Amino acid sequence: MRAYDIIKKKRNGYSINRSEFAGFLTGYLRGDIPDYQMSAFLMAVFFKGMTREETADMTEIMISSGPVIDLSDIPGQKVDKHSTGGVGDKVSLILAPLAASAGVVVPMMSGRGLGHTGGTLDKLESIPGFRTALNVKEFKKILSKINCAMIGYSDEMAPLDRRLYTLRDVTATVESIPLITSSIMSKKMSEGIEGLVLDVKTGSGAFMKDIEDARILAKAMVDTGNAFGVKTTAVITDMNEPLGMAIGNSMEVLEVIESLKGNGPDDLMEVTLYLGAMMLKTAGIEPEIEEGRKRLAGLIESGAALEKFGQMLELQGGNPKIIERPTLLPHSCLSIDIFSEEKGYIRHIDAEAVGTASMILGAGRERIDSVIDPAAGILLKKKAGDFVDKGEKLCSFCTHDEDFVQKAREKFMGALRIGESPPEKRKMILEVIG
Ligand code: URA
Repeated sequence: MRAYDIIKKKRNGYSINRSEFAGFLTGYLRGDIPDYQMSAFLMAVFFKGMTREETADMTEIMISSGPVIDLSDIPGQKVDKHSTGGVGDKVSLILAPLAASAGVVVPMMSGRGLGHTGGTLDKLESIPGFRTALNVKEFKKILSKINCAMIGYSDEMAPLDRRLYTLRDVTATVESIPLITSSIMSKKMSEGIEGLVLDVKTGSGAFMKDIEDARILAKAMVDTGNAFGVKTTAVITDMNEPLGMAIGNSMEVLEVIESLKGNGPDDLMEVTLYLGAMMLKTAGIEPEIEEGRKRLAGLIESGAALEKFGQMLELQGGNPKIIERPTLLPHSCLSIDIFSEEKGYIRHIDAEAVGTASMILGAGRERIDSVIDPAAGILLKKKAGDFVDKGEKLCSFCTHDEDFVQKAREKFMGALRIGESPPEKRKMILEVIG
């Protein structure tokens, strides 16, 4: 079938069958189908959606566009965790060494941040010397030694997804549930894992602004993972406010170290321990979530998780001295304090607006090819529920460019709601699917 006919079929709301899909997608990868036709197809999918079968077919074609890693010679249950992206979401960096210290094998692969959301890969790369581009042999060697390794998706893995994601970024077709599902799951299914815990975020700082969309995405990803034989569970978590106090790459690494030392903020630790307990359950190590949480909290308290983090840093070329000397991490030359213009309780801090302010300061990417500043970002001094006096410090901005400050400040101030009474405590874990 001609590319034109496939676009028209989808535009008119019909399903594309496996062989039509295979011809169309592999034709695009070979260069026989131009970007403008693929863009039109993606937009048709954006409006008309895809069935569960189409999503599985697309995922499978994307997986087979590259190699699948074979981890079968490494003993233990290989379980990864993936977040759909948020603001201040540094959970993966705490969770990989934490779950590994409990006996899960965690072959974690991550991507970069985009727009107001951060990416694990950018946070890891802010650690001096840390290598995220290991080859499969190095990756497996580290996994066998310490149970965890954290790298970026390689160029060879699901190359079709890489091409499509770049195109979606510039054609306003990122926010499509079947396209997100096939994109994320094709990469995850190429990792050679046996289990997967998905953190599907919902709220202003997430891709999925409302819980109903988050449920649909979670269900689509769980179905796809299970269809490929990977035991998959999704946890829907709140992303209406930034997670933790730090937003920006090296600042978040610092918060990770503090969390592994037992000083993590409540919201961040609640999400981390729950997802970690779900990883233990998926790996068959601890069937009860509450017991799993306790076991993981114990591994933080004993220092075992921090030790594992240090080992991972060392084996991946990072400087383990950052654990004791945070000044070894990149830190911006300009630190600007932002003060409150009102007195009262902080009722809400909007995650998307804070993420955008942080991006303006240089911590995030406006486009896939934007360059980021690893030291830039925002360190919150107050969170929702805290009381603030007029003139009291709300946060500190870090940036290399003073020109960014005014716009970021306006964005940040717009993110705040201050009132006479404290808000109700936010529920972080909203639902479990699968
Ligand atoms: N992350 C991905 O890898 N793909 C998407 O489509 C969206 C977020």
